[in-house]
Amino acid sequence: MSGSELVLGIESSCDESAVALVDADGGVHFNAIYSQVAEHAPFRGVVPELAARAHLARLPPLLNAALEAVQRQDGRLVGVAVTQGPGLGGALLCGLHLAQGFAYARGLPLVGVDHLQAHLAAPFLKTATYAPPEGWQAPYLALLVSGGHTALYRVRTRTHRELLGQTRDDAAGEAFDKAASLLELGFPGGPALEAFAVEDPENAFRFSRTKIKDGALDMSFSGLKTALALALERARPAERPHLAWAYQDAIAQSLAKVVDAGLLQTGETRVVIAGGVAANGHLRRVLSEGASRRAATLLVPPAQLCTDNAAMVALAGWDAGLARMGCFDTQQMLEPWTRAPERRRGKVSGHPLSSSAPEAQKV
Ligand code: KG4
Ligand code: ZN
Repeated sequence: MSGSELVLGIESSCDESAVALVDADGGVHFNAIYSQVAEHAPFRGVVPELAARAHLARLPPLLNAALEAVQRQDGRLVGVAVTQGPGLGGALLCGLHLAQGFAYARGLPLVGVDHLQAHLAAPFLKTATYAPPEGWQAPYLALLVSGGHTALYRVRTRTHRELLGQTRDDAAGEAFDKAASLLELGFPGGPALEAFAVEDPENAFRFSRTKIKDGALDMSFSGLKTALALALERARPAERPHLAWAYQDAIAQSLAKVVDAGLLQTGETRVVIAGGVAANGHLRRVLSEGASRRAATLLVPPAQLCTDNAAMVALAGWDAGLARMGCFDTQQMLEPWTRAPERRRGKVSGHPLSSSAPEAQKV
């Protein structure tokens, strides 16, 4: 792995400060994450101002460690990729300015990366223990389930995705986080709820899934949260882990149903999953059983590549052709995107400098 050309990735869209080095083949050479859980836990949610301050403190030492790794591995930096959005404005600015200053000082090309596009690149990273199957090419379906977004895409090429369906209210991660808060499980909610949930052999609880009647490949999770709140009012303490299980199962089954309908509608036979909620073991099992029933192949990246990291940002930078551009444009970096560049059933480019869908890039 020594002597490689490397892209430096920087991620600061929410509460993970992360820096990584990735080669053109998706090989991860360095991947450091500082999770700000300790800063936000007392407030039971991410506090934007604290997130920005923590990024300011944590990103520079992570960058120094990455630069030491470049030297140690005798690598060569060929570009910088940084999350441009969507995310928290102040948090994004910390990463953007660090990336901008570093790229300027080193004369390196710089690209702003769509955070959702980065999540969708994660399954194609390679580590010492994980590699995607050889020859996995677009088109395929991609289920993106994170704290702020939940959507099903048809990926046409690695940098162009078509939105097939999305949540009409809460994101799946938000649904996990709100349920964890109702159950007083602490922060971050998703992993806490997964650890707390216990399958009930008698299957006493079942939450009904919200039906989307117009045939769209959409989802809805806000009713589920209300149903949990009402059930908790009547539940005995011993029943709470079973309720958590039923809630987790309802989310997993809703997502599996949409993926199944997407496979049927499009005729695709391969699916990838991405985003923090894709770390959930029950969801991974339910989706994998659903894919087997349809004789479809499911690509499931390791849990630590599903949650926010900078390796996925660096690979999305490579995908954007960063190293070939050989220029940087500070104008591109002035504004963080705080909302997603989504457009229903249209092409959405994952590359902010792409000319194919410029109007879809900023909202
Ligand atoms: O992708 P991500 O790290 O950040 C965003 O881009 O939002 O996703 C974070 C979300 C949070 O809502 C978190 O509770 C959820 O992913 N999450 C999980 C698990 N791990 C993280 N949800 C359910 N089960 C998990 N094991
Ligand atoms: Zn994310």
